[in-house]
Amino acid sequence: MRLFLSGPMGSGKTSVARAIARRTGRALVDLDANVAERAGASIEEIFRSRGEAAFRALEREELERVLTDGATDAVVALGGGTVVDARSRRAVLADGTLVTLTAPAQVLAARVAAQEGRPLLAGDDARAVLAAILAERADAYAECHGTIDGSAMSVDEIAERVLETEHEAPVVVPLGARTYRVEVGAGIRGRVVLRAALASAGTVVVVTDDGGASPWAGEIARELRASGRSVALVALRAGEANKTLASAERVWDAALAAGVDRGGLVIAVGGGMAGDVAGFAASTLLRGVAFAQVPTTLLAMVDSSVGGKTGIDRPEGKNLVGTFHQPRFVLADVETLATLPAEERVAGLAEVVKAAWLDGEGAVAALERDAEGLCAGEVEPTVRAVRAAVKLKARIVADDERESGPRRLLNLGHTVGHALEAAAGFSGLRHGEAVAIGLVAAFRVARSIGRGELGHEERLVQLLERLGLPTQSADVPSAVRAFVGADKKRTNDRIHFVAPAAPGDVEVVAIHTSELIGALTSGH
Ligand SMILES: NC(=O)c1ccc[n+]([C@@H]2O[C@H](COP(=O)([O-])OP(=O)(O)OC[C@H]3O[C@@H](n4cnc5c(N)ncnc54)[C@H](O)[C@@H]3O)[C@@H](O)[C@H]2O)c1
Repeated sequence: MRLFLSGPMGSGKTSVARAIARRTGRALVDLDANVAERAGASIEEIFRSRGEAAFRALEREELERVLTDGATDAVVALGGGTVVDARSRRAVLADGTLVTLTAPAQVLAARVAAQEGRPLLAGDDARAVLAAILAERADAYAECHGTIDGSAMSVDEIAERVLETEHEAPVVVPLGARTYRVEVGAGIRGRVVLRAALASAGTVVVVTDDGGASPWAGEIARELRASGRSVALVALRAGEANKTLASAERVWDAALAAGVDRGGLVIAVGGGMAGDVAGFAASTLLRGVAFAQVPTTLLAMVDSSVGGKTGIDRPEGKNLVGTFHQPRFVLADVETLATLPAEERVAGLAEVVKAAWLDGEGAVAALERDAEGLCAGEVEPTVRAVRAAVKLKARIVADDERESGPRRLLNLGHTVGHALEAAAGFSGLRHGEAVAIGLVAAFRVARSIGRGELGHEERLVQLLERLGLPTQSADVPSAVRAFVGADKKRTNDRIHFVAPAAPGDVEVVAIHTSELIGALTSGH
């Protein structure tokens, strides 16, 4: 994987990239130097004679060349403004690890003072220009795997930190100033102390439920306390029936009793229920305090902890009251899954399969290779699968944070799945099991409107079976019939349905509810 260094002029991109290349033996690419060489002119001359827009176009072309033809493990020093272009930034994020180097404006100004050939600084007060550049590019620079303020570090120390970030390999959810990282691994929950310190200096409220998640929450609360933090621990009653306003009130009250102010931090440790309630409480407490997630169910790791949807249930339905409130960080430690009942863990694999089908052939083939290991709960395959599913979700959320378009794709398998859950009164059938059956049903519906082939459905069924998931239920037609009248995605008598075909070829279509019922009852 390539390693990209970004950051303003004077942040040390080139020297740090050189130090890393020397230390690791990896190829070195200096994007500015490549542009200058190909153009036969210095960067300053290109700016002067052709203007910034022309330079940016050359820079984009050069980056494209590096991404398609360059050494796949190269260390690449980007130009200071390369990542301002959203497409370039996303391409770099998708390709490898992107680290932003930075420092306060006066430090940068002192470093560049003696250098020549800095076109954006020509004739101006360097400190003011650099401060303006930092402010203007803040959102773009934030979208990265890690930011390192190297003002008090040597080049070698910065290089060390960059390599650490690359090794930790977080998944980035790129949302400008609200960008956050999802770390996936085995035995990584201890990082919570450092991550919490970066997110807030105030009181921490750890929220869990009184089921199997609570020992993990206890451990995390103890570690935070041992680091000197003031910590309140709230254990809600477990179960979907407690995803209520009363539970949110318990979080508010415990936080206020502990003296939380706007600088406080709420950390959910547990499954989707604790996460949804804690996130909702955090988003409304004092008009919003920082929030983080340490998911301990597979479903929470691959789905509910990423994306920022929070919510509570009402008698009229699930998740009818809620907010969008992105976490500051997510730590998914698959070691915590060791205490999760096997059926709960396996149910979570349905969302993993869904994500892989949305992603494409490579992701589905990877699950097929790992199926037995995943079913048995082996650590390495689980880390790989969780990371892949989170990456896919991060990409979709980045394109559509508030679910007005592409994010609807994440509902693949959920229309029929939700109908089945509702028919079972949200008990008896696990969410993931309902989604697995819903995924298979989605292929039948898709075929009835001319999308996909029987072979795709057969491939999916085989994969689900190897993972230990159900693929059919005699209740589907009646559940869907009962449900379509109440489906919140319904528009007049048409609903948005996520119709799959080959892996990576999934689209949202509007179909009549009668077509949906017909497809599921006709025995296609
Ligand atoms: N916000 C979102 O985007 C989103 C997405 C999908 C689902 N959800 C929500 O997630 C919820 C379901 O989440 P869930 O499936 O994680 O269930 P859950 O949160 O209800 O957890 C189920 C049980 O597992 C226990 N548990 C958790 N971790 C454990 C561990 N490591 N070992 C032993 N026991 C453990 C919990 O204590 C709880 O008793 C639903 O409310 C759903 O609406 C939200």
